[in-house]
Amino acid sequence: MWGIELNRESELPIKRQIYQAIRDRIMCGQLKSGETLPSTRELAKNLNVSRNTVCEAYEMLLAEGYISSRQGAPTRVTEGLFIEKLPDCVPPAKKSSLRPLRADFRTGRPDLRLFPRFLWQQILHQAGEEMTLEKYGYTGPQGLPELRAEIAAWLFRSRGLTVHPQDIFITAGATHALHLIAELLCRQGQEILMEDPCHSGMLQTFINKGCAIVPVPVDSQGLQTEHLTEGKNACAVYVTPSHQFPLGGILPASRRTELIRFARENELYIIEDDYDSEFRYGGESIAPLLAMDSRHVIYVGTFSKVMFPALRIGYAILPPSLHKQWGDLRTHTDVQNPPFEQAALTQFLRTRKLDRHIQKMRRVYGERRRVLLESLQDVFGSEWTAFGDAAGLHLAIEFPGRYFDAAFKKYCLQNGIYITPLEHHCIKNNLHQSKLLVGYGHLEPDEIRSGIKLLHDVMK
Ligand SMILES: Cc1ncc(COP(=O)(O)O)c(C=O)c1O
Repeated sequence: MWGIELNRESELPIKRQIYQAIRDRIMCGQLKSGETLPSTRELAKNLNVSRNTVCEAYEMLLAEGYISSRQGAPTRVTEGLFIEKLPDCVPPAKKSSLRPLRADFRTGRPDLRLFPRFLWQQILHQAGEEMTLEKYGYTGPQGLPELRAEIAAWLFRSRGLTVHPQDIFITAGATHALHLIAELLCRQGQEILMEDPCHSGMLQTFINKGCAIVPVPVDSQGLQTEHLTEGKNACAVYVTPSHQFPLGGILPASRRTELIRFARENELYIIEDDYDSEFRYGGESIAPLLAMDSRHVIYVGTFSKVMFPALRIGYAILPPSLHKQWGDLRTHTDVQNPPFEQAALTQFLRTRKLDRHIQKMRRVYGERRRVLLESLQDVFGSEWTAFGDAAGLHLAIEFPGRYFDAAFKKYCLQNGIYITPLEHHCIKNNLHQSKLLVGYGHLEPDEIRSGIKLLHDVMK
């Protein structure tokens, strides 16, 4: 009847199959308003099911108002339920003309192969076993106190930074922290000063929040503070002072002082994104801007690079003026971070496993950077110059006289190379066309060598 076909192998109960079949026919107009439904006995016979099953299906339709029945009258379809079906929206399959990647120079990728995965799984398992019942409930928007205490201790021993755990707010990574900061600070399209170039993803986070972006140029030493004349009404300045993304410079003391002075005079916040400063290959780690002024600096840290991106744990260190608003905002958006990974990370920090992993990776990444510079020298001779400090997981390289744009990126992809022209991260265009970004942290030395040779072939 009505072409109803029942699947007796399905996990969906037969009564629900009948209910859905009739409901769909009503919605698409095959069964018209006021039309009489067959008696339960007739339909049961037709479908070869028990009458009880059909009765249950009819009761479901009745309860939801698809059909109506009055004592002594036949069951009818309710008035006005037909809605025109929209055409199925299946996106056309994209034909990919791309070759599999032979050189993957994407930026911001730690080497996941070297992360102690099995150790992490054990710690996660143990953390789950030891989780108290109260942690299965709402544990608060700020994050577990024991994790915040361990992060404070780690920042002290690794960066010489004194932070109170009550100023640390756990997030789902740096991107999440920046999103919340934008939500708190940038009211109704207020301006935000941003390094130019800066990470296109972070820029997008602020654009999505409706901020008006005011670019401030960057050179090989980071933000050019002499250009901090515009945007005095801005709510914040976004900077990456320990390792500028993407150019790689370290902001010198004179510019740091200038920046803090500017923030104080104009009553705005500095958002310090410290995404990968743990990886510095010569000299001591850089003291964060936060150490100079904890009232105007909002510090953002992440475990995406020192551990792995899918962990989705980062943190913001906030001045007391923002604590309450932050707690309210978090409570009414995503409530809190899950406690299991937080507990495992607490243990990873407490037992110094993270310290050891960073120490190991610093050696590995430092060596890979050396191999990259050597390969560039071997293959490109003196055609190039490297930008920035010996740090991080990527390198900005200039090839004077060359021009790299989206078309170049596409051409490389067609030849199996993923590489990003620096222009991709620029707010104002046409200032950095001769530069490329090479992510190397996740590549073995041999992959770096063969990748650079391939790049040379493509650039010929
Ligand atoms: C400058 C910068 N900030 C923040 C992030 C994002 O980190 P997360 O994974 O914690 O969101 C990245 C990631 O590449 C980055 O390059």
